[in-house]
Amino acid sequence: MASTMHLTLVLLCLVVSHAHGSSRVLRWSDDSDASPSTTSCPSITSALSDYSGHASVKYVPLVTNPTGPNFYYVDLVAIAINGKDLLPFPPALFRGNGTMIDSQSAFTYLNKPIYAALREEFRKAMAQYPPAPAFSDLDTCYNFTLTEYIYLPNITFRFGNGETMDLDDRQFMYFFREHLIDGFPFGCLAFAAAPDENFPRNFIGTQVQRTKEIVYDVRGGKVAFVPSRCGLR
Ligand SMILES: *[C@@H]1O[C@H](CO)[C@@H](O)[C@H](O)[C@H]1NC(C)=O
Ligand SMILES: *[C@@H]1O[C@H](CO)[C@@H](O)[C@H](O)[C@H]1NC(C)=O
Ligand SMILES: *[C@@H]1O[C@H](CO)[C@@H](O)[C@H](O)[C@H]1NC(C)=O
Repeated sequence: MASTMHLTLVLLCLVVSHAHGSSRVLRWSDDSDASPSTTSCPSITSALSDYSGHASVKYVPLVTNPTGPNFYYVDLVAIAINGKDLLPFPPALFRGNGTMIDSQSAFTYLNKPIYAALREEFRKAMAQYPPAPAFSDLDTCYNFTLTEYIYLPNITFRFGNGETMDLDDRQFMYFFREHLIDGFPFGCLAFAAAPDENFPRNFIGTQVQRTKEIVYDVRGGKVAFVPSRCGLR
């Protein structure tokens, strides 16, 4: 996006587990100095670049978009919350003018009606948490004061070739230990409405790349989002 966001992520250390039959659960923790585990992280120059035989490498095609031929686009056709696609968006409508992988913005920006539908479903799933004022471009925020466990819905991206990407909480939530104004712990859905109504397309921001290794096979015309083998959160 044109309005590049330079936000520093002040992240809480959150402990994740999967609740039985429900979505993901986070627990606040004060252990903010804990560093990510790197024990299983292969060296950059050798194994990391070899994705052959890596079972969870699921490629989606890079598509060329006439309105931005120098950018990487993917064929995102749906977003599902807890396994159900947002309605009423058949793939053709969902695509709009395409979905760009945008390395300049932290957050993900969706065509306005698509974002509105996502927000509505997300709010239903998060109804038990008190809302918090908007933060930056993010208008779906929660006040997690006194909240020990946070139950988040599952969010999945579906692509035109049938592949899916289940988003980790780090990919779709933006957590802050202290709200800049009143100093309370909060978190926001790290998605917002694309600002330019005259040019509706979706932008996948860099936060959606967290916890994943992004494999660009440009010659092969494809990209993969591989769950990090380094335990990076
Ligand atoms: C959310 O995803 C987890 C892990 O894949 C799964 O066990 C759980 O059933 C899903 N929950 C819902 C409500 O879809
Ligand atoms: C693509 O963008 C143009 C404006 O540039 C708009 O008129 C058109 O409706 C958009 N197409 C879709 C499918 O959203
Ligand atoms: C956040 O929640 C706490 C505890 O309920 C409350 O005292 C505080 O006023 C809330 N802040 C905002 C901005 O809603």
